Amino acid sequence: MHTITIHTTKAYEILMEEGLLATAAEHISKVLPPAEDGHAAKSAPRKCCVVCDKTVHQLYGQKSQPLLTGLLEAGYSVHVYVFDPGEKSKTLRTAEDLCGFLFENHFGRNDFIIALGGGVCGDLAGFASSIYMRGIPYVQIPTTLLAMADSSIGGKTGVNAEAGKNMLGTFWQPALVIADPETFETLSETELLNGLAEIIKAGFIGDTSIFDAISEGLPAATAKAIQVKKDIVEEDEFEGGKRKLLNFGHTIGHAIETCSKYTVPHGFAVMTGMYLTALAADERGWSSEPMAGFIKSAIDAFAYPVYTDCTAAELAAAAKDDKKHEADNITIIYPDRPGTCAMKELPISDLEVFIASGLTKAQGR
Ligand SMILES: NC(=O)c1ccc[n+]([C@@H]2O[C@H](COP(=O)([O-])OP(=O)(O)OC[C@H]3O[C@@H](n4cnc5c(N)ncnc54)[C@H](O)[C@@H]3O)[C@@H](O)[C@H]2O)c1
Repeated sequence: MHTITIHTTKAYEILMEEGLLATAAEHISKVLPPAEDGHAAKSAPRKCCVVCDKTVHQLYGQKSQPLLTGLLEAGYSVHVYVFDPGEKSKTLRTAEDLCGFLFENHFGRNDFIIALGGGVCGDLAGFASSIYMRGIPYVQIPTTLLAMADSSIGGKTGVNAEAGKNMLGTFWQPALVIADPETFETLSETELLNGLAEIIKAGFIGDTSIFDAISEGLPAATAKAIQVKKDIVEEDEFEGGKRKLLNFGHTIGHAIETCSKYTVPHGFAVMTGMYLTALAADERGWSSEPMAGFIKSAIDAFAYPVYTDCTAAELAAAAKDDKKHEADNITIIYPDRPGTCAMKELPISDLEVFIASGLTKAQGR
């Protein structure tokens, strides 16, 4: 088994192995024992709430399936909360509904949540666990490539708001991450590409050997992407500085997602965002060497569609609402050289021109 420990304010392990869902309960019970000393009701088994969307519920969340069977056998009282798949469920309303479900089932501060699913589930369930009774533990069991390589690690939780994506959120580290790459087998080609985009992003930010690892297989590439994220979040857990590098492509990417009403998947939007940023940064001579060609070669290698129907004005308006802007400036993460990104403050008033230059070059005008 591959084990990576994340040393943040609360240290936790990421366990990765094919078939790990079947023995997940065994590992969870070491971190969150079914009848822990100090548990509110020592005589009653500790409760856990498996949170998953309808698709993942069918695949891995049934009481007859290995994860839940294992949890029941380990002695937990198991509850299951199911929501509709997709970004549209990542809202305060769903988080409140989930908290209501926990109250109805008398969850106490020592009980916990299991986020079983993709990034939407992890962000939503992690957020609910951070606010329920001022915070209860949660375990991440990512089942998409995107969630395994990126969103299940680092403790960023949140939901979307009218004002934009992830506008309501917390930093709340999981107690454990259980990663079973066998779950990739049921992912569609689109979902695999969606997740691969975050792995490629990690390659651009911190480790170009990721590009070779991709040809060795997704688990190897995922482990390398996790290592890049680990190094960054350990240095800057609360995104005061270096962690912003993980947002490469996300300022424009989030704007594309918002403008498309979330019809463009996150990874595809980020890929487009990274490319447009590189084109605009090259035009301004920011990077130590021109980088747009390097980024385009990764896009072409996996045949990502680089497109957006949105105008620069629409994207700039959406990005201005994004939480990553401070005062009159917005932090732009741009590729500096292969495997290294850098940051620059751009006046908000210049953002539309910046995006327009990327769009114009991408469209070959
Ligand atoms: N917290 C972070 O650090 C962080 C980082 C990156 C992205 N994110 C967030 O992650 C979200 C995107 O995550 P996502 O792409 O995983 O989306 P998702 O959770 O919606 O999953 C995508 C789809 O895959 C399905 N699915 C999940 N596991 C499956 C499996 N094993 N087999 C078949 N289908 C499966 C889901 O039902 C869903 O329809 C966005 O909301 C984004 O903001 C968060």
